Amino acid sequence: MAHAVFSIGRCSSRLAALEVQPNDASARMSPSSTPRFKNPRAKYNFQGRTCSISGVGSYVPAKVLTNAELAKMVDTSDEWITTRTGIRERRIAARNEFTSDLGAEAAVRALRQAGVSPEQVELIIVATITPDMPFPSTACLVQKKIGAHRAAGFDLEAACSGFIYGLEIAQQFIMSRTYDTVLVIGAEKLSAIVDWKDRNTCVLFGDGAGAAVLQNRPNSHGLLTAVMGADGRKADLLFMAGGGSRCPATMESVASGMHYLRMEGKETFKNAVQAMQTAAEEALRRCELDITRIKCIIPHQANRRIIDAVAERLGAKPEQLFVNLHKYGNTSAASVAIALDEAVASGHVQRGDLILMVVFGAGLTWGAAVIEW
Ligand code: ACO
Repeated sequence: MAHAVFSIGRCSSRLAALEVQPNDASARMSPSSTPRFKNPRAKYNFQGRTCSISGVGSYVPAKVLTNAELAKMVDTSDEWITTRTGIRERRIAARNEFTSDLGAEAAVRALRQAGVSPEQVELIIVATITPDMPFPSTACLVQKKIGAHRAAGFDLEAACSGFIYGLEIAQQFIMSRTYDTVLVIGAEKLSAIVDWKDRNTCVLFGDGAGAAVLQNRPNSHGLLTAVMGADGRKADLLFMAGGGSRCPATMESVASGMHYLRMEGKETFKNAVQAMQTAAEEALRRCELDITRIKCIIPHQANRRIIDAVAERLGAKPEQLFVNLHKYGNTSAASVAIALDEAVASGHVQRGDLILMVVFGAGLTWGAAVIEW
């Protein structure tokens, strides 16, 4: 009998946690009893543990490379780059400035905003395709630079989708109570793998880093859902062939440009639009949200025409979009992380707003996340 009573007690407290949690937010945000959205995590989240972003930060190198300057390096023009991509300039890291330096600076800023000391960080995830070196991980190098000596760390390689992948992984550790504080960084020095003689690619990319501190914050749903996807059958649309186990560096590999990024632009474009639309719709569907309920859409900043095509397919209004690619170009894993920081700093996003982040990159990979800020 005692056993039965105990079991019933456990069940009902679990059910109570499931039912109360979504309604908590709706009660806080709106006087009506109708929930503002569905929290898809609630079914796993028996103890009401959610994962929020408690601080963001970003850093871009000082050196600006304008379209006009690029036009002196390759056969291109400011007019072509602006109309075909929306990019006007990008940042280029100094010779002695590496991905870990950019990531560390962004991390310090995010920690400061969160009011968290480096010693409190328990895990560092660095999303990048331009690690300082194949190993050790850039996460370990960042750990040393910021003095987060208690933290575990690893790198995550999902190209431009890496920051959303990182948020989802961090959330798993926080919801499961494995860690209380996780630092997710998207950082790239793409100028190191761009072929500065290839006008098809060199006009598109730039360097930079963005970071987020993830923690449980009472009375916030935080990261409501994250969709992650990949299709390795299309790996040959965007790749760097040299430097791995398939093609280690040799005189020949260097001479034939195998250590540069290569891309089939048109096919990548088509796949990006389709995958971003599908991922965003899936994320919204899981939360039972209509696009009109989203305050700020932060898309991967690769090409203005991709962003506009995705927005049109989603039925989003221009004022919902946050775009900063005219300043930075495509910074891969750093792209949406920098944009999130700037959206918050500029007041585009306020506490309680719903954000939709949507990304796409080499792999192919894609992802989308809905966040209650
Ligand atoms: N300046 C002038 N002309 C150029 C340039 C340039 N910088 N680059 C290409 N051209 C020329 C081409 O040679 C071509 O000339 P041709 O018709 O004589 O052959 C013409 O312009 C049109 O080229 P397209 O490739 O058809 O141009 P498009 O309109 O497709 O734009 C672009 C190219 C910007 C690369 C676009 O396809 C794109 O943005 N693709 C997606 C990139 C992306 O989203 N990447 C995301 C992942 S990044 C990551 O994961 C690291």
